[in-house]
Amino acid sequence: MTKITHTEHIAIYPGSFDPITLGHQDIIERAAKMFDKLIVAVLVNRAKSPLFSADERVKMIQMVTGHIDNVEVRSFDGLSVDFAESMGAKVIVRGLRAVTDFEYELQMAQTNRAMKHDIDTIFLTTDLRYAYLSSSIVKEVASYGGQIDLFLPPEIVPLLRNRIKEREHKESQK
Ligand code: PNS
Repeated sequence: MTKITHTEHIAIYPGSFDPITLGHQDIIERAAKMFDKLIVAVLVNRAKSPLFSADERVKMIQMVTGHIDNVEVRSFDGLSVDFAESMGAKVIVRGLRAVTDFEYELQMAQTNRAMKHDIDTIFLTTDLRYAYLSSSIVKEVASYGGQIDLFLPPEIVPLLRNRIKEREHKESQK
């Protein structure tokens, strides 16, 4: 008789999440159903200085994914494939919004595969409701006092508003 052993299927969902949007939240909810464990991986080290620290971004994601048992949130520094390997994950999940994302995502997926052949990237197409959404565009809307509750989980809205106010205050003191 063939013995069926089950190895845990773990995926990482890496990104900047500065801050997490409804689009990210939707991808997390859908991807979590496909794996035993989904690790949302917040990149620490970025050329562009983030509005929220890595710890803040981790906490914000934990806040809005607490209802999903198999989701874990961590920060990482370095290459996504190295982080995936250290977590025992064989899959990297990314969301694809539109054809404009495609070239960059393909390049990244292929580079990652060249570096670690046993780790695959899978793409989930973003829900149409969020096809236009990015953290950068939401920060821009927020910086002009626009309505951001259309784009962010409700818990995140006041946090972004406050951070933008703090930034403006700091700028005005210079
Ligand atoms: O949310 P983002 O900014 O689109 O996420 C991009 C991210 C974090 C997935 C990507 O920049 C990344 O994986 N950075 C870590 C360094 C790395 O592994 N680069 C890819 C090699 S091509």
